[in-house]
Amino acid sequence: MTQPIARRDADPMTSFRQAIHRMTGISLPATKTALIEQRLRRRVVHHGLPCTGTYLDRVLSGSLGQAEIDTVVDLITTNTTSFFRERAHFDHISAEILPAILADRRRKPRLKCWSAASSEGAEAYSLAMVLAEQQRAGHAFDWAILGTDLSVPIIEKARRAVYSTEQVAPVDPILRRRYLMTSDDPALRDQVRIVPELRRRVLFRQMNLMDARYPVDRDVDIIFLRNVLIYFDLQDRQDVVRRLQGHLRPGGWLIVGHSEGMSVTLSGLERVRPTIFRKL
Ligand SMILES: C[S@@+](CC[C@H](N)C(=O)[O-])C[C@H]1O[C@@H](n2cnc3c(N)ncnc32)[C@H](O)[C@@H]1O
Repeated sequence: MTQPIARRDADPMTSFRQAIHRMTGISLPATKTALIEQRLRRRVVHHGLPCTGTYLDRVLSGSLGQAEIDTVVDLITTNTTSFFRERAHFDHISAEILPAILADRRRKPRLKCWSAASSEGAEAYSLAMVLAEQQRAGHAFDWAILGTDLSVPIIEKARRAVYSTEQVAPVDPILRRRYLMTSDDPALRDQVRIVPELRRRVLFRQMNLMDARYPVDRDVDIIFLRNVLIYFDLQDRQDVVRRLQGHLRPGGWLIVGHSEGMSVTLSGLERVRPTIFRKL
């Protein structure tokens, strides 16, 4: 049996919301109760339990094991993502950030990027396509991308790098031809896979942004932290941004989601666009 994840001194739903906040940073106010119940309904049925309260009791006590806790975290988190989401960020990287990096001849041209809260990988692979295109254009540099996310199943999906044709619709047709593989198997007609040349350079690891330390290099050039701060409370947002800032090289870039720019108020960061920051 796994260790309990919460003391049971409140009703199961309240204890559960507190446990999720402690484990993931995700704030679940009481107004989200119906949403939580809806997302967990299948698990209640799966375990043949009479109601959500009984299910939550079992999860909290650890009696359903760590795998069930991972499943719950996966169901509670919102993994919505898409290729080239907030395209202006990718355009800015091509037009401004990469030329600035490549023009700096003092630096060894090896670019390190990090998609923190990567979800199933669309963000990291979109960036990979942008970087690969720059190489095709004749710029000599090396690059690597790290993708991290809290959810174990979502990280496994990112590593498989298989997407539906619908998911890759936002990818430019030329990039689709260059970087997505199709199968001859008619059963896989609606699926594509990222080509090995990109997969080799994009690594995914499970990691919790609530952890006090991140096992990641401290000279990263570009960090994506998009569409995840919105789930955290103010203190957690500031702590996460401060910790991530410590992993940027001086002059490195932090990019947040379009509704998250105001969450970033650190003195060591200069705002160069509403959602793009540069480490001083
Ligand atoms: C809405 S998705 C955003 C994905 C991508 N960054 C984008 O903008 O398309 C939010 C992701 O944050 C992850 N997440 C939530 N809390 C987290 C935490 N404490 N540590 C790491 N990842 C977390 C979720 O699992 C989810 O995949």
